[in-house]
Amino acid sequence: MKTTISVIKADVGSVAGHAVTHDALKQKCDSLLAKAKEEELLVDYHITNCGDDIDLIMTHTNGEENEEVHELAFNAFMEATKVAKSLKLYGAGQDLLSDTFSGNIKGMGPGCAEMEFKERPSDPVFVFCCDKTEPGAFNLPIFRMFADPFNTAGLVIDPSLHKGYEFEIFDVIEHRKVTMKCPDEMYDLLALIGSTGRYVIKHVTRRSDNEIAASISTERLNLMAGQYIGKDDPVAIVRSQSGFPAAGEVVEPFAFPHLVSGWMRGSHNGPLMPVSTANARPVRFDGPPRVTSLGFQVADAKLVGPVDMFDDPAFDRSRNLASEVAEYMRRHGPFEPHRLPADEMEYTSLPGVLEKLEERFEDME
Ligand code: F6R
Ligand code: MG
Repeated sequence: MKTTISVIKADVGSVAGHAVTHDALKQKCDSLLAKAKEEELLVDYHITNCGDDIDLIMTHTNGEENEEVHELAFNAFMEATKVAKSLKLYGAGQDLLSDTFSGNIKGMGPGCAEMEFKERPSDPVFVFCCDKTEPGAFNLPIFRMFADPFNTAGLVIDPSLHKGYEFEIFDVIEHRKVTMKCPDEMYDLLALIGSTGRYVIKHVTRRSDNEIAASISTERLNLMAGQYIGKDDPVAIVRSQSGFPAAGEVVEPFAFPHLVSGWMRGSHNGPLMPVSTANARPVRFDGPPRVTSLGFQVADAKLVGPVDMFDDPAFDRSRNLASEVAEYMRRHGPFEPHRLPADEMEYTSLPGVLEKLEERFEDME
């Protein structure tokens, strides 16, 4: 029997402004998921949040893209939206692009990462949740976990990792995908995934036996809807130990708070700060962007845990560095590279400004 982990997330309302979701919304989701567990659609679940996003972590035995599981998540977000509207929460229902479910949650607004595997004698799994950034934010840390020997010692010294990993890359603009092998094609891979707004790591598999190692949500709300509707704050699932990177190698890349796109109005670059779930409250300039990590043991599809992985004083230095970088970036105000280049901004007044100035522009010799 195989176990499936489905992490489905959406922002359906928050307090105050876009800061943090409300407990009443998580409680509403809990009531639907508890019923589904009783009825044995789910084996287990855990509900968390990162800032204004609710993350439903669900385990079951129905495989990926299961219609009933996706519909359950959709209904949970629909019901939570009703509560959000009754409390006049900010952005109530903002990530739901439709009010009727049509077979698969993909394309309907929520983000989704899933993986199915046969459980090993012991299977540690980590769920990462972000707020105020985009799926490409995971490119750098996932690359470092599975391909950088300066992060993951096991790639060099553990025979079970030594053959390396395969990366499935989605081109989210042209809607196509390509699979590349590491370490053999590392430079070509980096040439793509350095463009974080376009080439996004979707899956990582172990080359020696094709076992799934990581799965990342790649939805880009703004592209799906044809216009900006909300953030595409991503989630990721990563397997660890015994042939996969050790737990410490899985969280280590986040010790460097790298710059990601998002933050205020989805239009700024800022550092990705690793925080405990309690501190996933992006406030300063609506940020800076956050990432949380919950560690579970998966036992017969039950979730044992979680441990809040970034609730560790050893990450204080990274958080302090993120705060310093946030200060440095903020001083740029509306200038690049703090503000995103014009074609990547999710809010822009530029066309209007250009139109207004059209008559005043003069050709130069
Ligand atoms: C939302 C976000 C926020 C908003 C900002 C403006 O996820 O990142 O920074 O973009 O608060 O929100 P509106 O336009 O709703 O006033
Ligand atoms: Mg969000």
